[in-house]
Amino acid sequence: MQEIKIEHTFIVHQDYSSFDKHQVQLFEAAKRATKDAYAPYSHFHVGAAALLSNGEIIIGNNQENAAYPSGLCAERVALFYASAKFPGKEVKALAITIDYDAVDTDEIIPPCGGCRQVIAESQAKQEQDITIYLLGRDQHVCVIDSIGQLLPLAFSREVLRTVKT
Ligand code: THU
Repeated sequence: MQEIKIEHTFIVHQDYSSFDKHQVQLFEAAKRATKDAYAPYSHFHVGAAALLSNGEIIIGNNQENAAYPSGLCAERVALFYASAKFPGKEVKALAITIDYDAVDTDEIIPPCGGCRQVIAESQAKQEQDITIYLLGRDQHVCVIDSIGQLLPLAFSREVLRTVKT
């Protein structure tokens, strides 16, 4: 028998104003991005901002479609655009938030499973952890050191390498 134990403690900071100015810049970019989400169906506005190793901040927001599955989440818009515009540049950090003005909750909202898988791919290809910041209402922020903590036992590229040729 084998036992696999998964355990993590996430810290939620109540006030991100003490973070360094580059981090705060990233947080503000994600917050601003929520305002430009195209979400006429769910009215749920998500924003993401990726900090790249060249210092660029690439934002994304959710883009919905009348054919619902054709839409895309904010995190994926940001990460795919970052990879399209700056291929090979590492993603150092990803900030994610929602438009708290438009919802009746104070909960911090974690990324969906599909986005976790895409963040995992970005992290795997650069072999360097991506810090994920989940921004809550006001200046609350939950810091996650690696996507492995949000997506343990992920399906990975390593599995595909085992295919017999
Ligand atoms: N959404 C995101 O942008 N990111 C997530 O991680 C979860 C959900 C979007 C997709 C859709 O436009 C809306 O939120 C409601 O699901």
